[in-house]
Parts: sequence; C-alpha cells; structure tokens
Amino acid sequence: MPRKIVHYPHPALRHKAQPVTSIDKELHLQIGEMMELMYQANGLGLAAPQVALPFQLLVMNITGDPDKPECEEVFLNPQIVEKKGVMLGEEGCLSFPGLYQDVRRAETIKVHAYDLKGKLVEKVASDLEARAWQHELDHLNGVLFIDMMGPIARLAARSSVKKFEKAFREAQEKGEIPPNLEIEKLLAALEGRP
Ligand code: CO
Repeated sequence: MPRKIVHYPHPALRHKAQPVTSIDKELHLQIGEMMELMYQANGLGLAAPQVALPFQLLVMNITGDPDKPECEEVFLNPQIVEKKGVMLGEEGCLSFPGLYQDVRRAETIKVHAYDLKGKLVEKVASDLEARAWQHELDHLNGVLFIDMMGPIARLAARSSVKKFEKAFREAQEKGEIPPNLEIEKLLAALEGRP
C-alpha cells in the first residue's frame, strides 16, 4: 500500500515517536516518500507520525518549492534546546487540511538534531521557520496544533475538528481505514515491539 498522509484523529498522530537508531536504505526511501508527499500537499514540513511511521524524523523545505532541493532539511531525533520570545500567527497542518488558526509559539528556537550522516547539528531559526519547526517537533510527541491553540482559536476550530472526527469514523466503518487496535499493532510492529 502506498504511504499517504493520515488525517486527524488517526492514532499514529497521538503516538509518541521512537528515536531513529539506524540510517539505512529504508530510512532514505521513507525520507524520499515523505518529501514527495509534503510537496504534493503543498506543505513546508512533514513529520513521520503523519505518514504513520512512529519515528523521530522530520522533513522540511521552508520554501515549499520542490525546485529548491537545496532548502530541503531532514532532522533525526530533534530536540529544542532553547526558546526565546513569543509570537502569535496562523498555522495549518497537513493532517487537518483546510483548518487554519492562530497559535502562540516561541519566536526563536535552537534545535539539536542528527543529520543523515549521523552527525549532531545545532540550528537556530526565527519567525516562520521557527514556527514550522515547533509545529513539526510537536508531532513527534503526539502533540497537535489544536492542542496549542488558545481558547478563542480552539472554539473557532471546533466544528472543523468534529468534521474530521466524523469523516475518520465513517472511513473506518467503510473499511477504508483499519480499526484503531489494528493501527496500534502496526505501529508496534514498526517499532519492533511484540
Ligand atoms: Co502538522
């Protein structure tokens, strides 16, 4: 089955991602697929849980432009080590197509992550880039932007969130998406757990 972006409330989005422990051919293939799906959906970033892979892996291209591969970034096992300032701005998420709301984020962040050579890199970002990194990093902890919205944005998003829940339930009833228990088993198998 080809990999695709899963929508809320798919259980993979609430599953805490495990660290990447080896940089092999399979990882490179997964990264290639994720980049492609991100561009197809006109996104700037995509986290592995959004394609039902329970790993601490992110792909980004802050320009969103597939003709700018020099702007592509891959983060393995990323962690935010410093946050500064506060900014409020609009966010969307490829797992909530069509939903945009204001979210409060740190203005500048410092991230530690591993690159594809297994080297630890330190990166600093501000503004849009910092917002995208914080949003994608949250995905690795099963945190979604609806969790980060203030009370007014959350209220405004409510009917849209309900629609996603209904569509997901209906797709499961039709057998288009496996039951949650089966999804949890698939995630555990990917993690190498019995
Ligand atoms: Co997202």
